[in-house]
Amino acid sequence: MLVIIKDSYDDLSRQTAAMVAERIRKKPDLVLGLATGVTPLGLYKELIRLYNEEGLSFARVTTFNLDEYIGLPRTHPQSYFHFMQENFFRHIDIEPRALHIPDGMAPDIDAQCEWYEQQIARHGGIDVQILGIGANGHIAFNEPGSSLGSRTRIKTLTDQTVEDNSRFFKTAEEVPKTAITMGIGTIMEAREVFLLARGTAKAKAVRAAIEGPITAMVPASIIQMHRKAYVLLDRDAASQLTHVFRG
Ligand code: F6R
Repeated sequence: MLVIIKDSYDDLSRQTAAMVAERIRKKPDLVLGLATGVTPLGLYKELIRLYNEEGLSFARVTTFNLDEYIGLPRTHPQSYFHFMQENFFRHIDIEPRALHIPDGMAPDIDAQCEWYEQQIARHGGIDVQILGIGANGHIAFNEPGSSLGSRTRIKTLTDQTVEDNSRFFKTAEEVPKTAITMGIGTIMEAREVFLLARGTAKAKAVRAAIEGPITAMVPASIIQMHRKAYVLLDRDAASQLTHVFRG
């Protein structure tokens, strides 16, 4: 696990985008795992800039998003499908059929989860998985207590996550209470994992994930077991780490 601490969120986004771009240039048909939320917005902005200004092409890239709310149509402004279109996909040259986001309106959610796992396998697995981290240590919608070997499935969100996400909805009651999420076992099979965090609100979770014991109560702590994991932090998110070498 390599922990990279940058002075600012912009630096963090640029660094992550440069790492993703390097991999796409090396392997144009990269399979890229993506996250929603505010943390990767700077990364997406920078990747869009690289597409517009530096000829980075996504034409052969395949993507798999981590999760989607159950019960929100793709056109809903808070669906993750809509989020990805608005903040990333519609600005680049990616093929619409190469985008994968679980369908939260699927009539058979279990079959949808199974199909998602099969699609990941059919594409040869995920090369690089982008992750954010919840204040409670969750990754994707794998909340504390999730099985560390779990696969794509339906999960009930914790009260804290519903509350955290309510800033995007008019009221907390409107926030969906269930989601389809890649499992921790699914995420761990990605060849490389980039976990991003910004701000003091994440500092405690980052410390628990990196320096604490590996435990299902802090799902992100499983990253300690990954063969090729990068943790990219701004100074605030890194502020509670005790093992930092300042050179
Ligand atoms: C989103 C996801 C979530 C977020 C996490 C952090 O696809 O999987 O686990 O990464 O909740 O969200 P932000 O970045 O909004 O703080």
